[in-house]
Amino acid sequence: MKTLIKNGTLATAEASFGADLLIEDDKIAAIGHNLSTEGIDEVLDATNKLVIPGGIDPHVHLDMPFMGTFSSDDYTTGTRAAMHGGTTMVIDFILQKQGDTLRNALTTWQAKSKDKAIGDYSYHMAVTDFNDQVAEEVKEMIQKEGITSFKTFMAYKGALMIDDGQMVGLMKVVKEHGGLVTVHATNGDMIDALVAKFLQDGKTSPLYHYLSQPEVTEAEASARFSDLLHYTGCPGYIVHMTCEGALNAVRRATLRNQRVMVETCIQYLMLDASLYDKGFESAKWVMSPPLREKKDQTALWAGLNQGLIQVVGTDHCPFMWNQKELGKDDFSKIPNGHPAIEHRVELLFSEGVAKNKITLSKFVEATSTRAAQIFGMYPQKGTLAVGTDADVVIFNPTTKHKISAKTHHMHCDYSAYEGVEVTGKTETVFLRGQKAIHNNECLLKPGTGKFIKRGPTQFLG
Ligand code: URP
Ligand code: ZN
Ligand code: ZN
Repeated sequence: MKTLIKNGTLATAEASFGADLLIEDDKIAAIGHNLSTEGIDEVLDATNKLVIPGGIDPHVHLDMPFMGTFSSDDYTTGTRAAMHGGTTMVIDFILQKQGDTLRNALTTWQAKSKDKAIGDYSYHMAVTDFNDQVAEEVKEMIQKEGITSFKTFMAYKGALMIDDGQMVGLMKVVKEHGGLVTVHATNGDMIDALVAKFLQDGKTSPLYHYLSQPEVTEAEASARFSDLLHYTGCPGYIVHMTCEGALNAVRRATLRNQRVMVETCIQYLMLDASLYDKGFESAKWVMSPPLREKKDQTALWAGLNQGLIQVVGTDHCPFMWNQKELGKDDFSKIPNGHPAIEHRVELLFSEGVAKNKITLSKFVEATSTRAAQIFGMYPQKGTLAVGTDADVVIFNPTTKHKISAKTHHMHCDYSAYEGVEVTGKTETVFLRGQKAIHNNECLLKPGTGKFIKRGPTQFLG
């Protein structure tokens, strides 16, 4: 099967230029000017449109058991919604049960994803209980399974959190075998104490979720994580960074020539804590860490431009409204997370490129290329080049549209971005050469998505 995309503006993390792009079977076969249409099965005209690499969202939670319930998108609905928005690959989180093995956790997640994923996927392995046996399994995950990133939580005590001793042990073994440690960096003990105090005082609304995770909880944990990385020499990545204080911890680490890799998420660039003034409706934005202040958004945009932040993900962790209502009388029982997997690429374009906050190359870098490099699957994923997987998006940079729960494809009965007007739309998507999205329809079936084995990080800086 040969598909020719003609007359588009190809955008990569390095440059943008007018060219045609030929897809042959599952790979990009040629990039050039005036490529011949002879023997081509389908020709698509991309005049006045961008042609970009398929988005990679390295932070999603699909069908995840969490806070007494499950996130509401499974591998089919989640990867389909992602595809509609131009994201062709996701990295989900496997959660080890405390006291159980990584292998059992992997088996559970394989059953969730196999035959169900529409887009490509990989897993981060969340280590919630580190010991000698787990250390052996870390090696096996890296060498046999191609799972090279290990997620840790410095919060959610009693469920997911590990202590600093376990963190150092994990970092040492991950470093030895060529992996990467990622972290939810907030000070769990401090947050738990604040939560307990607010509840004791009868302060139960979503606003107190926000107030129980002040900036210092994230800044402190980000600095501590960076220090432990420096001590062990392990490569590390901080997920869902929200604030200036945490960014400054990473900036300080550069003074000793250390690079700590950083992801922020689209909501932290766009939304702010004023959304916690809406009574229980604010539960829509109860996530951890919470939304922050305008000054934090300014710091995050600058961090992206300065290269301190490499990736924009979503932390997609949707819950239906009746699930959010589990916390009607107690903010600490509101399942944490919001739906976003579908909107990340379009929102970053709209807020970033269309409003001149970032360049087109930075947009491609942050939505695709850096994630591929950091998580060890470049150039198979994350760029447009001859021989790479043909994960390709034709994007119309001028189409305006509005986000609504009525029209989105995520399995969630509200939108955290209801009514937001977006400039730029994903029009056609290819996954490994197969037409996946066209005319607002998904053409791929559950099971098309492939597990992608990964190698060591390729972005140590
Ligand atoms: O609120 C969030 N972030 N929910 C998902 C779990 C996590 O901490 O990433
Ligand atoms: Zn987290
Ligand atoms: Zn998360």
